[in-house]
Amino acid sequence: MLSLKEKDKPIIKKLLSAGCCARCVLRFCCVSVQAAYRRPHQETLKELQAFISDTENGKPQDPKAVESTEENNKSHDAAGSEPPDDPPSKRAKLEPIVAGAPSEEDSAAGVRLKDEESSVCVVCLGILQELCGTTQAVKMADAVKAEKYEFDTLVLSVSLPAQLCVREHSCWLHVKNQLREKSAAVDKEDFIQVKEAFKWILQGLVSKELGGIAVVTRSLFEVGVEFTHPETDVDCHFLASTCPDCFKATKNKQSVFTRMAVVKALEKISEAKFLKHYPCPPVKPTSSCSSQDVQCLHVSIFVAGRYNKFCRNLPQTPWLIDGERRMESSVEELIAAPILSSFRADGFNFSSSGREDVDVRTLGNGRPFAMELLNPHRSRLSKVEMKQLQETINASSDKIRVRDLQIVTREAMSRMKEGEEEKTKSYTALIWTLKPIERDDITFIDDIKDLTLDQKTPLRVLHRRALAVRQRVIHSMNARFLDSHHFYLGLKTQAGTYIKEFVHGDFGRTKPNLCELLKTDTDILELDVESVDVDWPPSIPE
Ligand SMILES: *[C@@H]1O[C@H](CO)[C@@H](O)[C@H](O)[C@H]1NC(C)=O
Ligand SMILES: *[C@@H]1O[C@H](CO)[C@@H](O)[C@H](O)[C@H]1NC(C)=O
Ligand SMILES: *[C@@H]1O[C@H](CO)[C@@H](O)[C@H](O)[C@H]1NC(C)=O
Ligand SMILES: [Zn+2]
Repeated sequence: MLSLKEKDKPIIKKLLSAGCCARCVLRFCCVSVQAAYRRPHQETLKELQAFISDTENGKPQDPKAVESTEENNKSHDAAGSEPPDDPPSKRAKLEPIVAGAPSEEDSAAGVRLKDEESSVCVVCLGILQELCGTTQAVKMADAVKAEKYEFDTLVLSVSLPAQLCVREHSCWLHVKNQLREKSAAVDKEDFIQVKEAFKWILQGLVSKELGGIAVVTRSLFEVGVEFTHPETDVDCHFLASTCPDCFKATKNKQSVFTRMAVVKALEKISEAKFLKHYPCPPVKPTSSCSSQDVQCLHVSIFVAGRYNKFCRNLPQTPWLIDGERRMESSVEELIAAPILSSFRADGFNFSSSGREDVDVRTLGNGRPFAMELLNPHRSRLSKVEMKQLQETINASSDKIRVRDLQIVTREAMSRMKEGEEEKTKSYTALIWTLKPIERDDITFIDDIKDLTLDQKTPLRVLHRRALAVRQRVIHSMNARFLDSHHFYLGLKTQAGTYIKEFVHGDFGRTKPNLCELLKTDTDILELDVESVDVDWPPSIPE
């Protein structure tokens, strides 16, 4: 079962007497059979003790014998039966028997087992002992249930105190140096990681608590637990003087002693230096790690669609001036609120193919938009539910409507932005002219094709855009007479053309402009976007 070899015996002895737990012993012996870690650690400990005592008795056995559990049920009646002889080296390490201890004190084995079962592992600080059992699994499952996540599979993640690496290094040196003559082949690289063993043990337990949900190695849904052990945080500190470069302060980390930094420092430090600064084997801790709140995170999902905006007093995004709100709502908020509550997401990022000014309507088929939904607790909607969601948004306000609402991939979302400059947009503008409009003006405008403009960054956006001259093309225009000083101007332009500036000229910053062309002052009174010719997202048939 444990698939241990004869050559592992001295290593196991050293590790056990140094205060390693049974599972850490398996890790150091590179046992990669997952089932070996899932057995109760007390049983494994007994089995290991039985295994090493075989040679002590001077009757080495076939190691295969230990692989069967039946042979090793001494555990269940250890207190009553003849204890295996204590190896002398072990006995030396035993804590003195506490006076007045309960009835088992008459059995050396009973006391010893109890002692080792209850002491916290010097390497994993309890993580592979009591902290990876049913209690932990229930805690994680309860967090998932409390937040009512919907998911197909989940992946466990675990964050461990960095000092585990220091302690593992110390134990490794301990074994390596004490067994040098026997050239014990313990390669640190081959150790099973605490993290890995922890997951092997917990996966099945968590799955069971969640009614059989598959706990896998890759999933969109992650359930994480973080362990800390303040008592031994100082373990890492000496590394800062041996490798100052490894520990650079970073903005968002509370401590410079991250796992990565500690691993790097341990790779660099010489053995002599390490032994000078740190005990080998490590000092026994008095308590186990404590686990922080369970964190659940579902990867973002992306929702796309097209929106219409039917009013002239709604900004696309919340409009704040000096932290104060100027308009009560915005396109993105009106769209996002029902979507967030449907997917029960924590937040969103909104983006669209261009944007309209607060006083500009967006008509026709609407403007493509996409939203990233952060940590959605629900990640799928049926066609019917999606249509209902669209209806809810439509009914929530007269100001906006959405269509073609659908879940898309992150990659598909980038299609909305790519080649944006090359796309065309159609507009209708209500124009005022100082000079009365004549029939010739109308035909003059209708005949203009592919007019190239030089547009300096408009004054009104200069505070947020770099000063530049951009060339934009008006592909075609048409004029519809309204009265002698007003007409509707239809424009088909390259995306990114500043229409208002083309009409009034922006103090000569856009050339040519409509004032120049019609040889009179002109102004723009209203503007509507008629179409945004981006063929994404695909239309959804009703
Ligand atoms: C060993 O222990 C297991 C579980 O505790 C038990 O089911 C089994 O019968 C025992 N075997 C022997 C040989 O005692
Ligand atoms: C998305 O929004 C979150 C907060 O809502 C922010 O932290 C993150 O940087 C945003 N991501 C992108 C790609 O804009
Ligand atoms: C929402 O409004 C848009 C625009 O008027 C329309 O195309 C779409 O069908 C509406 N959706 C629903 C589900 O009513
Ligand atoms: Zn351990």
